[in-house]
Amino acid sequence: MPDSRAIVILTGAGISAESGLATFRGPGGLWEGHRVEDVCTPRALARDPALVHRFYDLRRAALETVLPNAAHHALARLEREWPGDLLLVTQNVDDLHERAGSRALVHMHGALRSALCAACGHRRDWQGSLPPGTACPACAAPAMRPDIVFFEEIPYHMEEIEAALARAGLFVSIGTSGAVYPAAGFVRMARACGARTLELNLEPSAGSGWFDEVRHGPASEIVPRWVGDHLAAHP
Ligand code: OAD
Repeated sequence: MPDSRAIVILTGAGISAESGLATFRGPGGLWEGHRVEDVCTPRALARDPALVHRFYDLRRAALETVLPNAAHHALARLEREWPGDLLLVTQNVDDLHERAGSRALVHMHGALRSALCAACGHRRDWQGSLPPGTACPACAAPAMRPDIVFFEEIPYHMEEIEAALARAGLFVSIGTSGAVYPAAGFVRMARACGARTLELNLEPSAGSGWFDEVRHGPASEIVPRWVGDHLAAHP
């Protein structure tokens, strides 16, 4: 039975676009200049660790130059003011949600400001560049890698996310193309369990037809407006 006050929000690269971070797909997208299989698969990391580490070093450095925008701030406001459960699930590896103040947050595709030991699984906060061969502070293996979920790897926090989707009364998808599973399937999971579903995106996503309501426009405009509407409608 869904809990009408439980909300799950999924975000993607579109929510950070107006902060100045490139999305993945479309003109100027990160995958336009790179083949995904060259930078975002376990095979790529084994074949050309310098290329993969450099790609993520540049992404990590870009975080220094950007700030959360009105959409990130609006979701942090919703978490502060909403009386029910709220889980923010982001596919983004940037840290703009936490810098805006969101705390009930999981990074299902990992995080740029984290490094992972491929040998022992030790994880630690990371700033600056991460050269291939960096020694693990826990086991000393020269195996620290970006803590990013590559294609063919299993996204993080899936049990917690699926449990939250099963009891959500409302599922909201923001700034994601709906091209990458399992996140692209969350709308159907939430619907099947009885949630109302809302898409907030610049344009219709691949899964737009699965949503009860769609609002299209730039996230910095439509997300604060929706948060204001939602809080006003459920005082
Ligand atoms: P995409 O680049 O696939 O999609 C971004 C979506 O945001 C598109 O539908 C755009 O229309 C929309 N968009 C762009 N600017 C926007 C704006 N200002 N306001 C609102 N929406 C806007 O990014 P994701 O869906 O996040 O995975 O991609 C999913 C995953 O694919 C990523 O997490 C990444 C990538 O491969 C990994 O790296 C593991």
